[in-house]
Amino acid sequence: MISFILLIACFIIFIYSIYVYLFSKPVNFPPGPPNVPFFGGYIFMLLLNYNHLHRAVNRICKFYKTTVIGFYLGEWPCIVLNDSENVKKALFHRDFDGRPDILMGRLRHPNLDLRGIFFTEGDIWHEQRRYTLRYLRDFGFGRRYDLLEKEIEIQIAQYLDIIKNGPKYPHENKYFKDGKVLLPMAFGPTFGNCFITCLLNEPIAREDMADLYTAVDNAFIFQRKTDNYGRLYSLIEEVAKYFPVMSDYTVARDASVELYTYFTNLINEQVKTFDETHERHFIDMYINKIRQAELNGDKESHFSYDQLTLACIDFSFPALSALSTTITFLFQQICHESEVQQKIQAEIDHVVGQGRFPTLDDRINMPYTEACLREIMRYETLVPSGLPHKALVDTEFLGYSIPKGTIILPALDAAFHDTSVWERPNDFWPERFLDASGKLCLSKDISLPFGAGKRLCAGETFARNMLFLFTTAFLQAFSVRMPNGVKAYKFSENLTGTIRTTPDHWLQVTAR
Ligand code: HEM
Repeated sequence: MISFILLIACFIIFIYSIYVYLFSKPVNFPPGPPNVPFFGGYIFMLLLNYNHLHRAVNRICKFYKTTVIGFYLGEWPCIVLNDSENVKKALFHRDFDGRPDILMGRLRHPNLDLRGIFFTEGDIWHEQRRYTLRYLRDFGFGRRYDLLEKEIEIQIAQYLDIIKNGPKYPHENKYFKDGKVLLPMAFGPTFGNCFITCLLNEPIAREDMADLYTAVDNAFIFQRKTDNYGRLYSLIEEVAKYFPVMSDYTVARDASVELYTYFTNLINEQVKTFDETHERHFIDMYINKIRQAELNGDKESHFSYDQLTLACIDFSFPALSALSTTITFLFQQICHESEVQQKIQAEIDHVVGQGRFPTLDDRINMPYTEACLREIMRYETLVPSGLPHKALVDTEFLGYSIPKGTIILPALDAAFHDTSVWERPNDFWPERFLDASGKLCLSKDISLPFGAGKRLCAGETFARNMLFLFTTAFLQAFSVRMPNGVKAYKFSENLTGTIRTTPDHWLQVTAR
């Protein structure tokens, strides 16, 4: 009898411990899915929508009838903000300016060290972001600068020439064929080269761009094979060890190491001809900082060659992939609604004509084009889950207690489709940004596609300028449509990784 009672007691304790484990969360934490061993609540997201985690979050929020959910991501406590107001509050919250130290951030370095801008926090992030932005500005990054604008015009002319006259070098064949361009990659090498012009004060010559084309491929592999929750291998590192291929760790790692090698070679070329008395460009300035730190015996300095490489990657990476993808989304919309193309072209013809390239001075006179760019970034959110932030200290937020180390995900896609802010959020409707006389209602874009606060995208101005210049120059020269007999992808068929992309597809381009 006693042993029977003991057995029942053990059973009750066992069931109770499972219950406690499943529903254990930090005190006063937002509601959310229960805690499954190893996975936390993340398993429910994987089960609900493995391919599009931001959509899984929408369903979880619906279930809990809230737009702020909290659960465990593996061992990490995590909250997701799934509406416009709270996304903004989180982005501007200084206590949330950290980044989680996850394998997905480290795998970009050959020795898995944490370097660069995207995934660092604290002193190293602050110092390196500030330094890079400050000195890239001297070479035109993020501001008006005649020399860079002229160089960008040359790059655009070169790009248009590949389409008009066909590829000239073998590496160009993979993205250009018979008046067609392969999207979403095809604009990547040119955008990448424009950013490299900020790094080296000159672009890479067209005939030498083969490795840059491969860098674009690798940037897209990484973007597609990772996500902003870090993938399972970031939460359970054994997954990377025992299931490297199945978990997509190998493919993301290989692409990253190749990118690392590309930028190391680019930097090494500059080291060979470096002269400390004559700084030619940003890379030289940075090399000088490294050498000064070495001379002073400063062991604490963050200025190092691998930090420089990762900083170059972090800035070039979105230039290689995010810009090209954003223009692809606009062309995707044009393939569904040709009127958008006609209106942009009418504006180009009216303001610029055919005798010269559009310039940044034309931007103010082309509100419809500007509204289309804002609307495409709202309509098809490039970074749907936002980049993960991290609570740097124990803090209070929206009446909840958020422990130090909690991952904070500002779900940008939910914010951009929040019905309390946006009328008809699921329609592509550029006119929402225009007043009755066709002018931009607000000089600033209120949808925050580049984030906000101290972690604001470091390339916003560069990105907006490039998107304007490239879209207008392209549609000045060409019209786009899907090749005969091929249906345009629906937006619902787009892929979700760290950023959204379209599936690879050829776009037919015809001279106007
Ligand atoms: C349409 C194009 C782009 C979009 C929509 C975009 C959006 C974003 C977003 C949402 C973030 C995360 C902000 C956060 O942590 O909350 C970010 C970060 C960042 N972006 Fe962009 N971006 C774009 C293009 C670019 C370009 C062209 C560059 C550089 C040339 C760039 C450089 C960066 C860097 C370095 C960060 C990390 C900032 C940090 O952690 O301090 N981005 N971007």
